[in-house]
Amino acid sequence: MSQKTYVMIKPDAVRRGLVGRIIARFEDAGLTIERMEFGTLTREQAAANYAEHEGKPFYEGLVNYITSGPVVKMVLSGPGAVAVCRKLMGATNPAEAAPGTIRGDFGLVVDENVIHGSDSPESADREVGIFFGE
Ligand code: RTP
Ligand code: MG
Repeated sequence: MSQKTYVMIKPDAVRRGLVGRIIARFEDAGLTIERMEFGTLTREQAAANYAEHEGKPFYEGLVNYITSGPVVKMVLSGPGAVAVCRKLMGATNPAEAAPGTIRGDFGLVVDENVIHGSDSPESADREVGIFFGE
């Protein structure tokens, strides 16, 4: 059964010119690009996406960072797309992410960790709604 997930290439990766290579990882895995849009998040969108982290010590920095420049917003689909994308992304902290994962290969620090992906099918529905209004 095909599943949808929300994936976002973060501002540090866009600034560093990694967009093409990151999208290729998802295409190589066989996922389908359903929607794709380039642009800078509003603070409202950032706050909605990261509502679960409000009040944590890293929250303000996270919102500042994710709104600091354009991102690539995508809806990807395929069997088990949510878990497959999280596996391709690697651990939250790039210093601990396995080689061969996107964060392991392209990132170094947790507060600029290259990519976002929904952590459950419920999060995916919510995040697709925030960014694509579906
Ligand atoms: P994301 O939501 O961005 O895909 O990342 P994630 O699920 O792997 O990690 P999550 O726990 O949702 O954390 C969201 C983002 O907050 C930043 N963070 N900083 N300094 C810290 O201890 C810390 N912990 C989390 C990261 O940028 C993470 O992607
Ligand atoms: Mg998360």
